[in-house]
Amino acid sequence: MKASIHVCEVLDLPKIHNRAGNITPIQGQIDIPFDIERVYYLYDVPSGETRGGHAHKNLHQLIVAASGSFDVVLDDGKEQKTISLNRPNFGLYVTPYIWRELENFSSGAVLLVLASMNYDEMDYIRDYQEFLTTTNEL
Ligand code: TYD
Repeated sequence: MKASIHVCEVLDLPKIHNRAGNITPIQGQIDIPFDIERVYYLYDVPSGETRGGHAHKNLHQLIVAASGSFDVVLDDGKEQKTISLNRPNFGLYVTPYIWRELENFSSGAVLLVLASMNYDEMDYIRDYQEFLTTTNEL
């Protein structure tokens, strides 16, 4: 089935609130539609810098602004949309075969990623023309 940016939604995550602060727990297959195998986070991104610029063949991800804010530009080869993340209790679900760019990082932003698989460079598509060819063949 062809990947679509419309499947990539912002999920409203649990938030346990009391006067001493908040907790957001994220459980695989309960709060998000995949098992979590890897966690990583981007931080100390210099002002004006962009990241991403690739798609994955099999990886599912949830992207959370654990601190600060940034924009995620999603592209399925036909359509694009930009999602701004700025709250730790919302996460953007990104499916395979979606090209993503990460931009407009605020100072001190922490981009937390929950991923369905361990790191595998073979799972990346890093060339945009190859991405377009591959998605059209799906
Ligand atoms: P990349 O996923 O391209 O980063 P971004 O999308 O944020 O621009 O990864 C950058 C480098 O870090 C690349 O050389 C691979 C390495 N890396 C790992 O070794 N393990 C990981 O889990 C991740 C996400 C990246």
